[in-house]
Parts: sequence; C-alpha cells; structure tokens
Amino acid sequence: MQNIQSYQEAFIKYLDTFVKPKDPKTLYEPIHYILELGGKRLRPILTLMTAEIFGCDYKKALDAALSVEVFHNFSLVHDDIMDDAPLRRGQETVHEKWDVNTGILSGDAMLIMAYQLFENYESNVFQDLAKLFGKTALEVCEGQQYDVDFETRDDVTIQEYLKMIEYKTAVLVGAAMKMGAIVAEASQDCRDAIYEFGKNLGIAFQLQDDYLDAFGDPKTFGKQVGGDIIENKKTYLYIKALEFSNPEDRLQLEQLYGVSPSDPTEKIDTVKQLFVSTGSAEVTKTEIENYTNKAFSVLESIKISEENKEGLIAFGNGLMNRNV
Ligand code: IPE
Ligand code: IPE
Ligand code: MG
Ligand code: MG
Ligand code: MG
Repeated sequence: MQNIQSYQEAFIKYLDTFVKPKDPKTLYEPIHYILELGGKRLRPILTLMTAEIFGCDYKKALDAALSVEVFHNFSLVHDDIMDDAPLRRGQETVHEKWDVNTGILSGDAMLIMAYQLFENYESNVFQDLAKLFGKTALEVCEGQQYDVDFETRDDVTIQEYLKMIEYKTAVLVGAAMKMGAIVAEASQDCRDAIYEFGKNLGIAFQLQDDYLDAFGDPKTFGKQVGGDIIENKKTYLYIKALEFSNPEDRLQLEQLYGVSPSDPTEKIDTVKQLFVSTGSAEVTKTEIENYTNKAFSVLESIKISEENKEGLIAFGNGLMNRNV
C-alpha cells in the first residue's frame, strides 16, 4: 500500500484526462465544473487502495475509481437541488451557477458515464462491477428518499435514521472498496469483509458529516453551516436531543423544526445550543467513534498484512478527525 496522497495524486491525474471540453457546453461544462471542484476524493482513494491490498496494481482500478467518483458527484449535484444548498466545496452549487434543469440533465449524464466506465473491464469483472453498482445506486436513491421523507415527519427513530444513512452514504463507501477487491479478483469472503469495513466507516462518516453540518467552521467546511437545521433534517443530533430533552426543551425543538424562517440565524443558534445542552452533541461524537471501531473490528477477520490493516486504520482515524 502506498500513502494516501500518492493515490489521490494518481487519481486526479487520471481524472484530468477524462475531463475534456465537449458540445453541448451547457451539458458538459457543469460536469467538468463539479468534478474539478476538488473534494477529498475519499471513495476513489479507497478503491485504489483496496485493489492494491488484494495484490493488484492500482492502475487497473482507475476506471472503477473514476466511476465511483463520477457517481458520487452526480449524487451531489442532484442532492444540492433537493437540499436547496447554495455552496459545495466552498463554491456555488451547479444549480445556483447554472439552473435546476442544467443540474438535472448534467447529473443524469454523469450517472450514465459512471456506468460506461465499466466497459473497459473484461466480462467477468465487468459483470461483478455492474451488478454491485446497480444495487448500490438504487440503495442510494432509497436512502435519499428516506432523507427527504423524514424532513416532514416528527417521529423518526434512531433505527430509521441509521438505515437512511446506511443507504444514502455508507453503501457507496462499502461498494468503492468492494470494487477494488473485484478488480483484484479477490475471494468472495474478502470482497464481503471489505464491504462491511467500508459500510461501517461510511456510517461513521455520515454521522460526522451531520455533526459538521451543525458545528463545522464556515471558513473551512465548504458547505452552508446549519443547512440541515434549515431543512429540518432528522439527524442523529436532532433525534438524540429530543430524546434527552426536558418537556420544555422538547417543545421548543419540535416547534423550531416546524418552521422555516426567512432569516434562519436565530433558529440555527438555538437548535445548536440545544444539541449541546441536552448532551446530544457529545453522544453523537461517541457514536462516530463506535462505528469507526466497528469498522476496525471487521479487519480482524480479513487475511491481509498488518501493514495494510494499519494503513486502513490510519485512514479511518483521519476521517473521524476531519473538519472538512
Ligand atoms: C459529501 O461527501 C456527501 C456525503 C455523503 C456526506 P464528501 O464529504 O465525500 O464530499 P467531497 O467529495 O469530499 O466534497
Ligand atoms: C448526502 O447527504 C447523500 C448523497 C449525496 C447521496 P447530505 O445531503 O448530508 O450531503 P451534503 O451534506 O449535502 O454533502
Ligand atoms: Mg445535501
Ligand atoms: Mg441530502
Ligand atoms: Mg450533510
């Protein structure tokens, strides 16, 4: 295994060869804009890393890694429309810079491109990749729909929330890793175990995303801080705060999640105070750690070198301590 930065650099170099001007510009420019906007490149790095862990040259996994990143960016373009989000990676979202219709069609084209990238693999690898991709992409849609449905529900449970984030986010992290294992033609047991590792890491990752959405630093976070509160998202922070509140706080929280003020500053401040005073923020942090450790415990059952295990653990710990 190489260091994380070298996978990232190799990936970005490959991505640059993929991004070429094409007509109609109104379809392709937004695609290139979002793909070149940066981001952590976490999923493609995991695909490349996993391929090497299972004994294959990472270069063979570049198309699978690109597919995962193109799919991820497609999901962000549509997600930002659905969440009415103004900022992505510190810049204007696609639908703000162009318009909603542009975001819809450019997003659709990216989804197709993601699938097309598998054509570069020979038939048995192609088939396994396509099968996993189809299953995962549909689950992401299911997760996204739950997320939206929950905005207008006031009885969402922790169990429902965990299922929602597993689908909208964690399965793609698991699939990114499993694709690396498929390209490396690793055994079924190895493929399944690395998927479990990625899925648990992905749950921790989305919990952390929800935490940062409320408590991140606007200067570095790259997204609108408080966006989930504005949209009345039923996050772990919110559900636990309700559970831990006294009747008075509970009423206030429920009332705040039933309104959409034109200036949301006060709503965001009050809700954040309640997240802290009820102890929910603290418990969320602990849960992030729990899921990260759950991912690490899966590693015990995989037959890979200690050095590779340590590399994956370092990656997981890095995610847990991120602020972007
Ligand atoms: C954002 O994903 C969407 C979530 C699933 C939380 P990332 O935080 O990986 O976004 P980028 O690609 O690094 O910008
Ligand atoms: C992202 O969830 C899930 C998908 C894009 C499928 P969020 O809505 O929390 O992601 P951000 O916070 O906008 O990146
Ligand atoms: Mg969003
Ligand atoms: Mg969303
Ligand atoms: Mg979020």
